[in-house]
Amino acid sequence: MAAKATLCSGMAFPPGPTQPTAWITYRWVREPYTLLEELEERFGDTFSMKIAGFPRMMIVSNPDHVREIFSDDGETLEAGRVNRTLAPLLGDRSVLMADGRDHLRKRKILLPPFHGERMQAYGRAMLELTDDGIDAFPVGAPFAIHGPMQDITLRIIVRTIFGFEEGPQTEKMVARTKRVLELGAWAPLLFPLMQFDLGRFSPFGRFRIAVAEADEMLYGEIARRRRDGARGPDILSMLLDAKDDAGRPMPDAELRDELVTLLVAGHETTATALTWAMRWMLDAPAAFEELRAEVAALGDAPTPEAIAKCALLDSVAREALRLVPVIPLVGRMLRAPKKLAGYELPAGAVVACSIYLAHRREAAYPHADSFDPRRFVGKKVSAYEFLPFGGGVRRCIGMAFALYEMKMVLARLVARTDLRLERRGPVAMVRRSITITPADGLRVVLDVRRPRRAPESAGASPGGAVA
Ligand code: HEM
Repeated sequence: MAAKATLCSGMAFPPGPTQPTAWITYRWVREPYTLLEELEERFGDTFSMKIAGFPRMMIVSNPDHVREIFSDDGETLEAGRVNRTLAPLLGDRSVLMADGRDHLRKRKILLPPFHGERMQAYGRAMLELTDDGIDAFPVGAPFAIHGPMQDITLRIIVRTIFGFEEGPQTEKMVARTKRVLELGAWAPLLFPLMQFDLGRFSPFGRFRIAVAEADEMLYGEIARRRRDGARGPDILSMLLDAKDDAGRPMPDAELRDELVTLLVAGHETTATALTWAMRWMLDAPAAFEELRAEVAALGDAPTPEAIAKCALLDSVAREALRLVPVIPLVGRMLRAPKKLAGYELPAGAVVACSIYLAHRREAAYPHADSFDPRRFVGKKVSAYEFLPFGGGVRRCIGMAFALYEMKMVLARLVARTDLRLERRGPVAMVRRSITITPADGLRVVLDVRRPRRAPESAGASPGGAVA
């Protein structure tokens, strides 16, 4: 029997599950991808659902509907209002919270250091920090690789933003950021209902204390740089010098929020994507060897530029992001009533593009459920069918950076390690805040580690010393 459209404030939403909101919310936290698959099978590629504490949401994955949403200029469909649940960590002035003109102004300031051309400057640090990470892997004993991936990507983003070389400053920054993220990873904290502060006696209170400790460090660094006038090729230097249209510098509170946004958005996502890429590659030995041969053909000490051009490596990174996108969907809230995907939606409704469902459409990806690392080689895929970084005026600022980084880290992993999965077979997933990771952090065993070689040709590092 065909499901009926839901009426809400006199407007029609597409059909969706009729189970209690609490049950749907529980499943959304525990098993978002299974839930999305079930709902698509039952209701087709456009449906609605209600999550506790949030307005009813219409979910789409058909490329025509994704295009409708990504084509909005940000005036009617607002992402900042949907992202507000992240405000306790990122702050009210983060680019992720902003909408309309304020959002575009912030993007204009933040985008330049993430432009594709700048990537080579970061590549050396990415390779060096990956080598440090690999040197710390235990040999012969199982370990969860997600932790080391987080450590590598966090050190890369700390160096890119602050220009610190390894040392006490980096260790302090890494430790405090990790503490905040560990406490914030508990998915129920995403819900406004759980955001009550009873100091150390409540999860949200403990999280707030950790955020305050990280803030102290960030404000200290901002003050030091303003005082010293010290500048380098790092992102903080650039933000300190940035001026708005009226020639005013960015206030400290705004600077803090953007720094936290880049620190958080810029490493946990990439670490998770790398962990998934390893999950698929280690389960596909022939593909792994093919990738190793591609990287080995570059010689003992390839430059970041050479690695970045490897077609199969690029395809592996994209295929991993396709099969299990790190973030299940991207949402927008309607400022005014609007017809989308054929439904007249009211102001205040939320529409979301399901990245996961869009990536599993057979029409775009034959045998969509299987890992095919050659799938993207030599192909240009539509932005409405491949959307791990969202799209339109909100598309991820760090997209080029993340893809470049994934290639650098994967190239070093395949060149220097013989890793294997501790157990083959299906991998359970868990939600860590907004990202979806392997539940056990992906248990692997390192059998062989080969020595490191530094790239020979010159290339700048974002750290002050080399650039
Ligand atoms: C594999 C890694 C990454 C994934 C999968 C990812 C994914 C995403 C997604 C889905 C969005 C929301 C887009 C939308 O609403 O349409 C986003 C936004 C954003 N990302 Fe990423 N991201 C990654 C890495 C990074 C990195 C490395 C940085 C920066 C260092 C970064 C910074 C941001 C920022 C600042 C936004 C907000 C953009 C805006 O609201 O205008 N991300 N990212």
